[in-house]
Amino acid sequence: MQNGYLKVEQSPASRGEVALSGAKNAVLVTIASLILTTGKSVLYNVPASADVFEMIELLRHFGAVIFFDTEHHQLFVDTTLLHAWDVSGAMMKKTRTSILVMGPLLARFGKVRIGGQPGGDAIGKRPIDYHLNNFAKMGVVIYHEGDDLCADVTKLIAAKIVLEYPSVGATENIIMAATRAQGTTKIINAACEPEVFNLIACLTKMGANIKVEAPSTIIVEGVDVLHPVEHTIMFDRLEAGSLLIAAAATGGEIYIPNACADVLDVVLLKLEEMGHAITIGPNNIGIYLKSTQSPRAVSLKTGPYPQFPTDLQAPMMALQSVACGISVIEETVFESRFHHAYELMKMGAAIKIEHNKAIITGVDKLHGAEVVANDIRATMALVVAGLAAQGTTTIAGLHHWKRGYDALENKLQRLGAKVTVHEENHDHSFFPVRPEPVEGNERI
Ligand code: EPU
Repeated sequence: MQNGYLKVEQSPASRGEVALSGAKNAVLVTIASLILTTGKSVLYNVPASADVFEMIELLRHFGAVIFFDTEHHQLFVDTTLLHAWDVSGAMMKKTRTSILVMGPLLARFGKVRIGGQPGGDAIGKRPIDYHLNNFAKMGVVIYHEGDDLCADVTKLIAAKIVLEYPSVGATENIIMAATRAQGTTKIINAACEPEVFNLIACLTKMGANIKVEAPSTIIVEGVDVLHPVEHTIMFDRLEAGSLLIAAAATGGEIYIPNACADVLDVVLLKLEEMGHAITIGPNNIGIYLKSTQSPRAVSLKTGPYPQFPTDLQAPMMALQSVACGISVIEETVFESRFHHAYELMKMGAAIKIEHNKAIITGVDKLHGAEVVANDIRATMALVVAGLAAQGTTTIAGLHHWKRGYDALENKLQRLGAKVTVHEENHDHSFFPVRPEPVEGNERI
């Protein structure tokens, strides 16, 4: 079921132009937000990654009629006949993002039933207390029935929400609930990730009344009704950063015409500090990278946007493994997001882990090995390492790759990378991979 692996050979310098897909972390929440509307919406630039298919299945379970034109990356969603508000434990385990339907379901039905709380996963405990405690402030009654987590509310009430940490998911969930609450909700210390703003843009088109105040307060005035929308998902800044890092690992030269430099500032800064030359196109769109042949090691610390993204920490660690000198990478967002470090060590990387810091001494050469990826971004890190390593690297954990990226291996191959995907005992019902667009649902 979860078998399959990536095979990576030492590769020549990447060269060429590559276009980005839509952002996974923007599209999943945007699909969830359609629950707030009644009618037919269209999302553009939707990546065909496995997590997107899971979210589609979840909305179908609620009663949505959905057609995904994977060729044109367009998702047609009709939410007229939604009739269910339960998320099974199995679904919750498959994709933690299921928690993002909670706010919209509370707004639409005043109730939600979730089959057990999402457990911890490979990158940390990932609790949902910020979501639940703040829904409670908005008048939601939360209780357990057996293993199920239930939430009921007659009418959501606006509240002043103070987030102890700017959680992306909690910010998004509360904003969605607040769009239909009675009164004006203020979220203090809200997450300001670009994906949150992509969601706000979509909700605003639906008719929501949302303002943002410096430095990080989001103010949502509840409205009675939200309308179906047409909305374009932002390009994936994490895919952009990953492609730049992969190119740098091969000493290559690439151009990403649709990458927005404004959402990658600290990543670009770090690549420049390493000695790589970055050129930005007009209006800050389009990123060109020309690698240095003698990259310097740089240190960095992850944090909420606009700091260095935790989702690029793993690939950046792979890049530091072959840089000249010593770098220190401090992970502050998730408490255990260093599994990939131990896999990189199997490939000859010199890394010491001290609590939430990885101390990396650059080596001349990595060597291919059999390694395992435990989360989406670890797959990318091990691909980056494999491109630079002598010999062949096989990476188990293909399903993580497919969850996060839309056939990224094809883009890498076009740049010259020797990366191939090998499926084993493939089970389409669990990890649907680019299925035919129509699965019993008519086009809307
Ligand atoms: N946290 C709590 N309580 C909560 C919620 C979060 O303690 O109720 C903690 C988390 O445990 C973590 C920190 O707050 O230590 C940040 O978590 P956040 O809620 O911001 O993360 P998330 O919404 O679960 C999204 C992305 C992640 C990305 C993080 C941080 C999506 C679908 N996921 O997760 O993406 O790493 O924000 O930017 O948007 C990935 O794409 O590989 C990925 C993991």
